[in-house]
Amino acid sequence: MSADESATQELERLLAEAEAALAQTRSAQELERVRVKYLGRKSRVAEVLKTLGSLTPAERAEAGKSANQFKTALEARLEARRKALEAQPAAALDVTLPGRAVVQGRLHPVTQTTEAILALFAPLGFEVIEGPEAELEWYNFDALNIPKDHPSRESFDTFFVEAPSPQPAKGKLLLRSHTSPVQVRVMERRRPPLRIVVPGRVYRPDPLDPSHSFMFHQVEGLMVDDRTSFADLKGVLQQFLQGLFGPKTQTRFRPHFFPFTEPSAEVDIACSACEGAGCSTCGRKGWLEIMGCGMVHPNVFKAAGYDPARVQGFAFGMGVERIAMLTHGVADIRLFFENDLRFLEQF
Ligand code: DAH
Repeated sequence: MSADESATQELERLLAEAEAALAQTRSAQELERVRVKYLGRKSRVAEVLKTLGSLTPAERAEAGKSANQFKTALEARLEARRKALEAQPAAALDVTLPGRAVVQGRLHPVTQTTEAILALFAPLGFEVIEGPEAELEWYNFDALNIPKDHPSRESFDTFFVEAPSPQPAKGKLLLRSHTSPVQVRVMERRRPPLRIVVPGRVYRPDPLDPSHSFMFHQVEGLMVDDRTSFADLKGVLQQFLQGLFGPKTQTRFRPHFFPFTEPSAEVDIACSACEGAGCSTCGRKGWLEIMGCGMVHPNVFKAAGYDPARVQGFAFGMGVERIAMLTHGVADIRLFFENDLRFLEQF
């Protein structure tokens, strides 16, 4: 076999190989890689062309012709493939592949519940106000008619903050044990009429269990003007609870004691699980305790600088997690704070 024959055969084989490679290309870059490999300066055809000088005239003619045929043929196929790829850009897109899900974030269930609560008070004219989580003893207790050494302080057992108090005359710094101190802070700087709702975190050194957490959320409410009555309180809370739990929700106001209200009440709703018959959700009582409320105590008005003879108002407070647990059937408060996505993604 002569040298030029083998060069011709080799180029024929290379053309077949290049055609197979071309059929696999999906982009202009892949096409260029094939061109460089088979037609570039380091390709086999370039080598063949370089050795032409050492061949006999007959061999040279034969090998030169093969090399030119190879180049022309491959260039034509490259061009055809380029056109085909251009005409069909979607050929690279496999529409039968499963879609890629977009991970979507969502609001935490406690945030969702807080927003649902606030939204029900907005049409009644209640504006949203926030207050500090690191609070002074005076606002958390004294101004709310919770005297020092009074047993009612124990029910609001507290985390004290080690940092020095910014206002020592108003006592030590602590993590607020309820949102009620914001009532006083707002009355201090504003005149009635007032209608506010106050969402926020509160802290109590309770050991963790299915219904206790050292941090949880409350929504506080306060309405003050010159004639707000207990009837207004009942009307507002009834409308709120029916908005939250459904229009047929029955409510019950049960006498209770809070130092900052007089008279005070706890509000129950008829248990939705058993409709009042008594079940494990309501502890066989048929009723679920939802919130505390009452008419603002004269001493609280005095502490805030209001004249109790000239104003009247009501206040209320509720636990957000408790409401979220009831509306979603969650049995353990700790689930809200463990950040397990399998739980959070259900809301
Ligand atoms: N601050 C009370 C608590 O944390 C809840 C409460 C009850 C707030 C009665 C009020 C109220 O404003 O009037 O248990």
